[in-house]
Amino acid sequence: LPQAVVFDLDGVITDTAEFHFLAWQQLAEKLGICIDRAFNEQLKGVNRADSLTRILQHGGQADAYTPAQRQQFMTEKNELYRQLLANLSPADILTGILPLLADLRAAGCRIGLASVSENAPQVLASLGLCNWFDFCADARALTHSKPHPEIFLTACRGLGVAPAQAIGIEDAQAGIAAINASGMYSVGIGATLAGADYRLNHTGELAWPDLLAHWQAKQACP
Ligand code: G6P
Ligand code: MG
Repeated sequence: LPQAVVFDLDGVITDTAEFHFLAWQQLAEKLGICIDRAFNEQLKGVNRADSLTRILQHGGQADAYTPAQRQQFMTEKNELYRQLLANLSPADILTGILPLLADLRAAGCRIGLASVSENAPQVLASLGLCNWFDFCADARALTHSKPHPEIFLTACRGLGVAPAQAIGIEDAQAGIAAINASGMYSVGIGATLAGADYRLNHTGELAWPDLLAHWQAKQACP
């Protein structure tokens, strides 16, 4: 049996990936930069500072601003994002997540969170999910953003589980890369993801018996 499952937050547990996009889009528009949902795929799983860098590069403004101005842009984006979070409630937990958490707990499988968002503790609290998690990686203590495996390795260490005995669930291409680089088994949520050990289109398709069967098949035939 796998000993732990580590979840990404935004876009896996709740649809806050859309809120991040809307907030960045509004900031980008102010700077005269147009971003769409296809471009946004490159921002998923990427921390705030690196996201801004990618947006400015995309708009041909890579060197246009001082560190203080960039800091101001990040603050503005975060304020827009936090306005969108204001009404977040347990009703916003995506389909399939609560039954999976319950099945994991019943199976004795540890549960972790690996989100590079500094807003993750608040999001988890608004969703009423804090008590389900045995360990949440602290985004502020990280050196690297996904696709670096640091956050997943930190989560495994915090859970006391070897990466090879753990499953990671992600909606971001950078997140799948991070899970794979950590040596964990990767589950991708989303039609366009590449490289996941097991890929689903939607969280509603997540089911513990299926997950277990696919994980076991990979152990038997790596
Ligand atoms: C997650 C999201 C990203 C977001 C990042 C930082 O990885 O997928 O879209 O940019 O967290 O979030 P924060 O709330 O710290 O700005
Ligand atoms: Mg995500």
